[in-house]
Amino acid sequence: MNIPTPHNEAKKGDIAKTVIMPGDPLRAKYIAENFLDDVYCYNKVRNMLGYTGKYNGIEISVQGSGMGIPSMGIYSRELFEGYEVNNIIRIGTCGSLGNPKSSKIANSVELKDIIVAKSVDTDSNYLVSSNLEGKILPECSTTLLDKLESIAKKLDIKINIGKIFTSDVFYKDISGLIELSKSDILGVEMETLALYANAKALDKNAIALYTVSDNIILNKEISSNERENGLNKMIDLALNLAYECEK
Ligand code: HPA
Repeated sequence: MNIPTPHNEAKKGDIAKTVIMPGDPLRAKYIAENFLDDVYCYNKVRNMLGYTGKYNGIEISVQGSGMGIPSMGIYSRELFEGYEVNNIIRIGTCGSLGNPKSSKIANSVELKDIIVAKSVDTDSNYLVSSNLEGKILPECSTTLLDKLESIAKKLDIKINIGKIFTSDVFYKDISGLIELSKSDILGVEMETLALYANAKALDKNAIALYTVSDNIILNKEISSNERENGLNKMIDLALNLAYECEK
């Protein structure tokens, strides 16, 4: 793949080998401006902002992925294949599925908890359309997971590791969600399948972590204040993981 790519105007060497990807490009800007030094904005195409800067003296990048599988599919592929990125760490929010007091695994997470996606279920056709169905398993990198677990322990941040569901539909029918709530799915979001599939297909590393922003079944969500503080813990985990990957 030639660079610049159709959706990224970065030049060779502009992007670090490890990229943190929030869905929201303005969150990429927030992370770059508040947590990185010597920041440089390498992409403004379609406002999908991307920055490279230093975290504790080590160069890392942070770039928006946009919402949904197609958008994550495009940006992660261009980073891996065009810009020779080795590691992508997705950070985002997800919905949980049910009564946190229930003994079922699927319902054991609460608002503001942090989830790490070890594997992914989906209602999307992305694997079939990419000719990857049956050829790869959409799972996170075990190397990144091992590193993240030890960072979480060191920072004393609880992480819930398990299966998530990447949905093609945000405004899902409630009966489908109730069915999902009976499974071992910890959270529902809309991007990780594409990231894990691209990483596996190209022999790269990816991991996704989320803050639970809403309980889809109980119709509850965290306040904007809680969103900020909760997300900062997840950002801290991602920055430390990126640092460990690059140092
Ligand atoms: N559904 C899909 N994606 C999400 C949700 C949700 O309820 N919450 C945060 N991201």
